[in-house]
Amino acid sequence: MLRNYRPAPRTLIHTRTNSRISDNFLYESELILCAAVTPHRFVSPICHVTSDRARYNSVAIFLHWLLAIAIIGSLCVGLYMTNIPMSPTRLKFYNWHKWAGILILLLSAARLLWRLLHNPPPLPNSTPSWQQLAAHTGHGALYVLFFAVPLAGWAYSSAAGFPIVLFGVIPLPDWVPKDRELAELLKPIHQYLAYALAATIITHVAAALKHQFVDRDRILARMGLGK
Ligand code: HEM
Repeated sequence: MLRNYRPAPRTLIHTRTNSRISDNFLYESELILCAAVTPHRFVSPICHVTSDRARYNSVAIFLHWLLAIAIIGSLCVGLYMTNIPMSPTRLKFYNWHKWAGILILLLSAARLLWRLLHNPPPLPNSTPSWQQLAAHTGHGALYVLFFAVPLAGWAYSSAAGFPIVLFGVIPLPDWVPKDRELAELLKPIHQYLAYALAATIITHVAAALKHQFVDRDRILARMGLGK
């Protein structure tokens, strides 16, 4: 009987958001049946609906939210510290900002490694192809900026003659020699790359919220928020 099973047409899945009880009942039954057929796979060869419930694994979710906190914190400190007068407090914020940048580099390397070794869960079947392309492009841009922003900051710090001493105890190597002109060039590069990262994150969050609350496709559950 299972061999002859055919999933219901896709329209059935989309009607879920209209909360029609009969459709929901059929949908849940279908999921249970699919899970019974292929319990260990996100996407069953015969049950396309299971991809709507797929999620990242716990390592990816942990790295996503830790990286998000580190990046948002670092962007906020970066904006704040440049506007306070020269003082021990200002230097303290600069050090925190640099340490957060190194943490972001390490977390990004871990995240990239995870990504190279795993396939992300497939997007819901209802996602139009242009949105799939936009999501992949946006994620790709985020990965590039994860590295570009802190590396440009590190190079600027070296060129300005302020080497990074991680947590005040581990001196890190200089990327480039101390050079005033180079520092003048690297400063706006770091700054504008950080603005580009902030803009990409805002777009990313807006897209996630639109999917969650307008399309109601429960995309946040893919990143560990809710069921
Ligand atoms: C600094 C902040 C953030 C950064 C840098 C960031 C970065 C990323 C990246 C790179 C991915 C792709 C993961 C991959 O496939 O490798 C991703 C996925 C995701 N993010 Fe974020 N994120 C941030 C904040 C947020 C916030 C605040 C939300 C929720 C409102 C969110 C929701 C999601 C969701 C739902 C996915 C999965 C999308 C999918 O299934 O394709 N992110 N994020």
